[in-house]
Amino acid sequence: MPIPAPNFNPPFNILRLSHVELVVSELARSRAFYVDTLGLQVTDENDERIYLRAMEERGHHCLVLKKGNEPQVGELAFKVFDEAHLERGAEWFEQQGQPVQWVDRAHQSKTFITRDPHGVPLEFYARMDRLEPIHQKYALYNGVKPLRIDHFNCFSPNVDESVAFYNQLGFRVTEYTEDEDTGGLWAAWTHRKGGVHDIAFTNGRGPRLHHLAFWVPTPLNIIDLLDLMATTGYVDNIERGPGRHGISNAFFFIHSRPRWSPH
Ligand SMILES: [Fe+2]
Repeated sequence: MPIPAPNFNPPFNILRLSHVELVVSELARSRAFYVDTLGLQVTDENDERIYLRAMEERGHHCLVLKKGNEPQVGELAFKVFDEAHLERGAEWFEQQGQPVQWVDRAHQSKTFITRDPHGVPLEFYARMDRLEPIHQKYALYNGVKPLRIDHFNCFSPNVDESVAFYNQLGFRVTEYTEDEDTGGLWAAWTHRKGGVHDIAFTNGRGPRLHHLAFWVPTPLNIIDLLDLMATTGYVDNIERGPGRHGISNAFFFIHSRPRWSPH
């Protein structure tokens, strides 16, 4: 079996994935999609950034749209247990020889950014502004009715290496596929929060973010969103689906692929 044994004593405690920043060239057009079409809720916005959350989330943001010249993906952000675990996390990445930089992030406590060995930009923090619940404010539900961010899915140039690295951090493999020819991992799904996955890796040219995913109430919400997208100018952004994954059994569709660029 090609997957490593679970690590029950990671160097610091990562609770779950948290959010990601997407650099977009036109904030207004991105707002039209993520807010008016997808149904995410605006929690803060200015000329540079739009902060968004999904309907069941108490944290301030699961997605940040940042104005920039070229579309690109920023750090994949994870929440850790407390400030002590955050400090231990920064020390651990420095011991691995990865660059660690403390940064100011609006609506978050102390935050550091770093990279995994393949160059995937990562962000860690312990506390985020906590907002009033809106999950029973049904007048606000819109679009696909996104409930919460669920996972990141990345292309990895070496899935075995990615799984081994994140396994050190306590990410456990829930499902995997094996390459019959090499005996190595073809793809793997790993979690911290208790779902099917927080971050998954598929063999391919990378590192690249293939998609970020949101949990929605029912498969019909996905059909409704597809109807909406197909009739409001987004038909070319429907990349794949609707369908059901063999792994995870998830009903899904995927729209326009984000990717990392060097920055
Ligand atoms: Fe996915």
